[in-house]
Amino acid sequence: MSMSKYRLALFGGVPLVRVHARLRIPWPIVTRQDRNAVMRAFDVQDFSGRGSSEVYGLEAEMASSFEMPHGTALNSGTAALHVALASLGIGQGDEVIVPNLTFIATAMAVVHNGSIPVFADIDPITYNITADSIRKKVSKKTKAVIVVHMHGFPADIHPIQELCRERNLMLIEDVAQSPGARFNGKPLGSFGDASAFSLMSQKNLATCGECGILLNKTLAAKNRAEMVRIYGEILRANTPRKYNSYTLGWNYTLNPIQAAMARTQLRRLPQLTRRIRQASLRMNCELQSFKWIRPPNDIPGGEGVFHFYRIGLDPTSFDFSHPGKFRKAIQDALNAEGLNVRHYQNTPLSGQPVFQTEIYNDFKKQFDIQRYPNTLRVIRSTLVLGAVSSWPGYVLCPGTIEAYVKGFEKLERNMPQILEYAAKIKYTEPWEDIAKTSDSFKAKYSFWKK
Ligand SMILES: Cc1ncc(COP(=O)(O)O)c(C=O)c1O
Repeated sequence: MSMSKYRLALFGGVPLVRVHARLRIPWPIVTRQDRNAVMRAFDVQDFSGRGSSEVYGLEAEMASSFEMPHGTALNSGTAALHVALASLGIGQGDEVIVPNLTFIATAMAVVHNGSIPVFADIDPITYNITADSIRKKVSKKTKAVIVVHMHGFPADIHPIQELCRERNLMLIEDVAQSPGARFNGKPLGSFGDASAFSLMSQKNLATCGECGILLNKTLAAKNRAEMVRIYGEILRANTPRKYNSYTLGWNYTLNPIQAAMARTQLRRLPQLTRRIRQASLRMNCELQSFKWIRPPNDIPGGEGVFHFYRIGLDPTSFDFSHPGKFRKAIQDALNAEGLNVRHYQNTPLSGQPVFQTEIYNDFKKQFDIQRYPNTLRVIRSTLVLGAVSSWPGYVLCPGTIEAYVKGFEKLERNMPQILEYAAKIKYTEPWEDIAKTSDSFKAKYSFWKK
């Protein structure tokens, strides 16, 4: 074996993975069952979704699979979060606690509902909010908590449930990244007063496009959800529409074609979850020998579904003291080898320009990203593996695990060179770009006024 085989691609060596053969699989995995279901829905020629048996079927099957009494189908996960809040009577000016590391929809849905997102810091190892971080943010105006089971891994839900009971807060689970995951044997999505799922095409449970499901514990909330879904009207099966609006609502109706494919994917979810977990746990085992890598892991009682495979990087065993430069050097070196690694969220949500506007002046201190040291630490020192187009199934692509392990071995073998490269990096924190541009962008793009 020639030594040039070990030269890093970042410094002119041969990449481990050729650009044209990057490790990707199309997602979601589509079978004949899905195609037949979609064609069946198409041939019925009921495209509106109101009163569709595919939509009713999906609602019932989701509720039963995730052990909640009532399901309402919507046209996105964001809509499901929005309607979750409305269905529980959360309204104008109410504060809702959300994680500062999640997808923007979790906080934006709160704003769409006229409520105020209040951010809680995450745990730096699990990436989830905790009862302790939530408790620090509870005020007299707090009405609800949205707990996100990040990247498919259960949050420590029992103390959060207890806190919500104690302080009379509604608990909403954001299960967008975690359908199929369990805690103490019970499915995520069954622990709150409501739970919101996204079935858009990059999720573990995915359809051909956009789709959301809301699960509710009470019939009253389910009835409200149905009204909010369609302009505040009351629609009854086999009864002509009356066009009377009793409350504020939107048009969040799901298309039957997307419902049909969601149903066949739901049937295969347990089997697919087993495959993703098995492969991801094998990756975890392989990474054990790299002291500088921390693979994702469950809390005791958790059975996560590895929606994203986020690794923590720690340079202390090499006596290197700058985690951000180290992460950036590893990112550059792996990408040069043809191995996809990237950031998922490069700022705490409270630092997003949309929240750094004058409408939130009363929350200026709260939204200061420096108040969220764990979120900053995670963004600075972690990376997500896999090509975006293959999430979350990247780990199922043949040869993927071996390729990443070889990549990490190659980097470890060249660590002195990587550290030298890291030391010279002109480093800016991932969130600094957005913070720098936000002022000028605000003036140009923010059309909200207080
Ligand atoms: C945690 C989380 N919440 C909510 C959403 C929103 O779902 P959708 O894209 O279906 O609106 C997503 C999707 O990316 C998500 O990851």
